[in-house]
Amino acid sequence: MQHSDPIGVFDSGMGGLTVANAVKKTLPNERLVYFGDSAHLPYGDKSAATIQAYSVKICDVLLQQGCKVILIACNSASAAAYDLVKAYVGSKALVLNVIDPVVQYIIDKHSDKRIGLIGTKQTVGSEVYDTKLRARNCHMPLSALATPLLVPMIEEGFHKNEISDQIIAQYLQNPALQNIEALILGCTHYPLIKKQVESFFKGNAEVIDSSLIVAKALRELLAAKSLLSDSSGAPDKFFVSDFTPSFQAAAELFFQREIVLEKHVLWE
Ligand code: DGL
Repeated sequence: MQHSDPIGVFDSGMGGLTVANAVKKTLPNERLVYFGDSAHLPYGDKSAATIQAYSVKICDVLLQQGCKVILIACNSASAAAYDLVKAYVGSKALVLNVIDPVVQYIIDKHSDKRIGLIGTKQTVGSEVYDTKLRARNCHMPLSALATPLLVPMIEEGFHKNEISDQIIAQYLQNPALQNIEALILGCTHYPLIKKQVESFFKGNAEVIDSSLIVAKALRELLAAKSLLSDSSGAPDKFFVSDFTPSFQAAAELFFQREIVLEKHVLWE
C-alpha cells in the first residue's frame, strides 16, 4: 500500500457517490475508484449472504485497481458484509464502513438524546447500529424504521415534488419516530432528500448525514497510517455493473459534476 494509491468506494448504485463527493471535498488530493453495483440494486431488500457475495466480487475489482483503502459506502453492505470484507481483504487494503464513524459521532455528541434511524430493510433488520452502540457500552435506545420506497424513488430522480414529500412525511410520521431529537440518515442515498427531511422536522431534530462524518473518519485513518496522498495525479474512475443513460444522469446528480461511467460486469 502506498500513499499515492487510490481510494476504492462502493455502493449498490449511486448512493455511495454522496460519500465519494464528501471524500473528494475533504481529501482533494486523493484519487477515487468508484464501483456502483447497478445490476444488483437495491441491496436493501436482499439477504445478507447475497450482499456478501456481491461485496467480495467488488473488492476483487477494487484490489485489482490497486486501492489502498476500500470504503463500503453503503449501509446495507456495511451491515451485512463488513466483517467478511475485512477478513477477505486482509492486509491488502484498509477497510472502512459507513456505520462505525456515525456510531462514534452519536456517542460523542448525542449519547443523552432520543435518536431515530431510517434505512433499508437490511440495515434496520440487522440492528447493526444498536449492536455497535452496545459494544461500545452505550445503551441508548434507538428507534429505527425501514423506509424501502426511498431508494428507488431517489435513484429515479423522483425526489423533489409533492408526491415524494408525501411519501417522506408518511414515513417520518410513524410512531417509531415521534419525539426524537436527532435522526440518522442510515442509507447513503438519503443525503439527497436531507432538505425535505429537515423541513419535515422544522428544526426540532438534527438530521445526521453520514457522508461528511465518514469522510473525516477516512482522513483520520489515512493520516494515522501515513497514507495521505499529496497529489491526486490520474483522474478518478467510475465503474458500474450495468449501464443505462438514466443512470448516467443520476450519477451526475449525485456527484454534482460530469462523470464518465465505465461498465464492468461482475459475473459473465
Ligand atoms: N445506499 C445503500 C445503503 O446505504 C443501499 C440502498 C439499496 O441498495 O437498497 O443502504
